[in-house]
Amino acid sequence: MSRIIVTGGAGFIGSNFVHYVLANTDHSVTVLDALTYAGNRASLDGLPADRFEFVHGDIRDAALVDELFARHDAVVHYAAESHNDNSLHDPRPFLETNIIGTYTLLEAARKHDIRFHHISTDEVYGDLELDDPSRFSESTPYNPSSPYSSTKAGSDLLVRAWVRSFGVRATISNCSNNYGPYQHVEKFIPRQITNVLTGVRPKLYGTGENVRDWIHADDHSSAVLTILEKGVIGETYLIGADGEHNNKAVVELILAELGQPTDAYDLVRDRPGHDLRYAIDSTRLRTELGWQPSFGVFAAGLAATIGWYRDNESWWGPQKAAAEARYAAQGQ
Ligand code: NAD
Ligand code: DAU
Repeated sequence: MSRIIVTGGAGFIGSNFVHYVLANTDHSVTVLDALTYAGNRASLDGLPADRFEFVHGDIRDAALVDELFARHDAVVHYAAESHNDNSLHDPRPFLETNIIGTYTLLEAARKHDIRFHHISTDEVYGDLELDDPSRFSESTPYNPSSPYSSTKAGSDLLVRAWVRSFGVRATISNCSNNYGPYQHVEKFIPRQITNVLTGVRPKLYGTGENVRDWIHADDHSSAVLTILEKGVIGETYLIGADGEHNNKAVVELILAELGQPTDAYDLVRDRPGHDLRYAIDSTRLRTELGWQPSFGVFAAGLAATIGWYRDNESWWGPQKAAAEARYAAQGQ
C-alpha cells in the first residue's frame, strides 16, 4: 500500500483518478489543489475518510509541498491550467502553474526521492492533417501550437531533465482528449451537453471538421495507475483508446441523444491556431505494460456522460453563466 499525492485532484481528470484509485486499490490519497475556477471540492464528496485527505494549497508553495512530500511515497501530478482558449487570452497563469508549479514539485521530489508521475497531453506534438494516416507515438517530435500546449511541453522537458541530471524517479504520460463526469462546462463536450439542456444551440468552432481522439477518464485513470505501478523510470507512455471523431459528429451524437434535430447547432468564430487533428498510437503502453481500455463504443460512454450531466445540474449549474459570459465576449 502506498501514500499517493494527487495534485489537481479537484479538477476533472484528477478527481476521476482519485475515485478510481480509492475504489480499485488499497492506496491512500492526499489531494493538493488550489481550487481555482476549475477545481471543485464537491467532485471529491463521499470518499472514505480513513484513506483520503484534502489539502487546499498551491503547487508553487515550496514549504507546503516539502511538508507533504516528506510523508508520502508517490505523487501523480495533474494540476495545471488546462484550457487552450483561456491560454490565448491570458497566458501568464499557464506559465506560473504549468512551468513554475512543476519545477517546485520536481525539486521536492528530488529532495525526498519520491516516485513522480507527470500527467501530460498529446497536444505537445502539435497536430496532424485530417487525411494523414499517421498517429502520434513516443518518438514524434514536440511541436506545440498554443500557450497551453507549449507550457505542457516545457513541463515535460523539465521532468526529463530532472530524471537525467538529478535521478528523480519519474515517468510521463501524454493522453488524448478525455470525456466523462466532473468536466468543467468550458470544455467542448460538457459545454454542448449543458447548452442543449438549457435550451441553447451547441457552438462549433470553424467548420466543425477538427478531429479529437476521445478516451473515457476511467480508461485514462487505469492507464496512469498501470504506469505508476509498472512503468520504467525515465520513460514516456502515450495513452489513447482509438476514439477519433470530428467535432461535428460529436455534436450530432449529443443532439440525437437529447432528442433534438442533429443540425440544431451554430458555427462560430474559430479558435486562433486551432489544431486540426490529434491521434494516438498507444501500442507501447499496451504491449510493454499490458494495458487495455475498458470503454468500447464512444457513443455509449458519451450517452452515460450525458446522463451524468442531466442528473447533476447542482454540480455544473453554478459554473455555466460565467463560462458562457467568457465565450460571448470572444464571439464564441
Ligand atoms: P482541470 O482544469 O479540470 O483541473 C485542473 C485542477 O488543477 C483544478 O482542480 C485546479 O484547481 C488545480 N490547479 C490549478 N492550478 C493549481 C495550482 N497552482 N496549484 C494547485 N492546484 C492547481 O484540468 P483537467 O482537464 O482535469 O486536466 C488535468 C491534467 O491532465 C492537466 O495536466 C492536463 O494538461 C492533463 N490532460 C488533460 C486532458 C483533457 O482532455 N482534459 C488530456 C490529456 C492531459
Ligand atoms: O488533447 C488533450 C487536450 O484536450 C488537453 O490537453 C486539454 O487540457 C483539453 O482541454 C483538451 O484540449 P482541446 O482544445 O482539444 O479541448 P476543448 O474541449 O477545448 O475542445 C475540443 C474541440 O472542440 C476542439 O477542436 C475545439 C472544439 N470546440 C471547443 C469548444 C469549447 C468547439 O468546436 N466548440 C466549443 O464550444
